[in-house]
Amino acid sequence: MSTTILVTGATGTVGTELIKALSNRGLTVRAGVHSIIKGDRLRQLNPDVQLVEIDYSKPETLHVALTGVDRLFLLTPFSEDQVAIGKRVIDAARQAGVQHIVRLSVAGADAEPGIQLGRWHREVEQYLEQSGVPYTILRPGSFMQNFANYNADAICHEGKLYMPLGEGKVSYIDVRDIAATAAHILSADTHAHQDKIYDLSGPQALSTAEVAAAIGQATGQPVTYVDVPEEAARQAMGQAPAWMSDAMMELYRISKAGYTAGTTTTVEEITGCAPRTIEQFAHDYSNRFKAKQ
Ligand SMILES: NC(=O)c1ccc[n+]([C@@H]2O[C@H](COP(=O)([O-])OP(=O)(O)OC[C@H]3O[C@@H](n4cnc5c(N)ncnc54)[C@H](OP(=O)(O)O)[C@@H]3O)[C@@H](O)[C@H]2O)c1
Repeated sequence: MSTTILVTGATGTVGTELIKALSNRGLTVRAGVHSIIKGDRLRQLNPDVQLVEIDYSKPETLHVALTGVDRLFLLTPFSEDQVAIGKRVIDAARQAGVQHIVRLSVAGADAEPGIQLGRWHREVEQYLEQSGVPYTILRPGSFMQNFANYNADAICHEGKLYMPLGEGKVSYIDVRDIAATAAHILSADTHAHQDKIYDLSGPQALSTAEVAAAIGQATGQPVTYVDVPEEAARQAMGQAPAWMSDAMMELYRISKAGYTAGTTTTVEEITGCAPRTIEQFAHDYSNRFKAKQ
């Protein structure tokens, strides 16, 4: 019988790429989707994928989704109850007899005193470490795809990349490299990655001006970085709740101060492929950044 892998958050930024990366590996891939209709698109990425509904607020859906699962990719959304959700899924996985959990955490989760985003993740990491279920923890830095998800409108319509990062450099990682790393670990025959923590980064630290230049180069439409004050960035988050905007401002502050610029070679060590550069990302996502003629 083939190994069954459950991917949580399967319709999201990381999950979608992981479903793709797990194709053609001879595994049974189950996509945990918040709604079956939203999950339909995943079948185009991986025709063999099974869809199963998971609503973190309904524990009974976890019980069904985890039945018969050997390995779990555990992703929690950026929500106020992310720690409670993470612990709930770990408990349910242990009860279901899951043999390995690959947990998506965040770079700097163990920094002292660190930032709130890291502390939330560290609490779940520690719960997992003590759960008795074999685990691998992935700690990626900021995603390159954030620019496509959150900045594309201003880039398309104004040719501007607004961020409150000053000259701070960040070692952005392409989500496809996180997915490749997770897929490799989830499909490994050995226990080589058991109870390990991996820091994942892109190949180099980049200033926001360098990101803007790479996107402009890829689209042929110049993009200018606008260094905005923190208060303007907070206002741009509109109706976001305080816990969310406070956590983001804290992340921006440490990035501006240069604390998120460290790089690692882990992606290449695990997958055998160098992580994608910002130029590759900008090229592959250029349609998302191009002004419609
Ligand atoms: N963005 C970054 O730069 C970065 C860097 C490092 C680490 N991280 C970590 O990455 C994680 C986020 O990953 P992502 O960007 O791939 O997330 P995402 O794109 O926001 O996707 C979240 C996924 O979770 C699902 N979901 C939301 N609420 C749910 C619920 N109540 N029950 C079941 N499923 C639910 C969503 O489905 P629906 O859309 O259908 O609700 C979606 O599939 C966070 O833990 C974050 O801390 C992010």
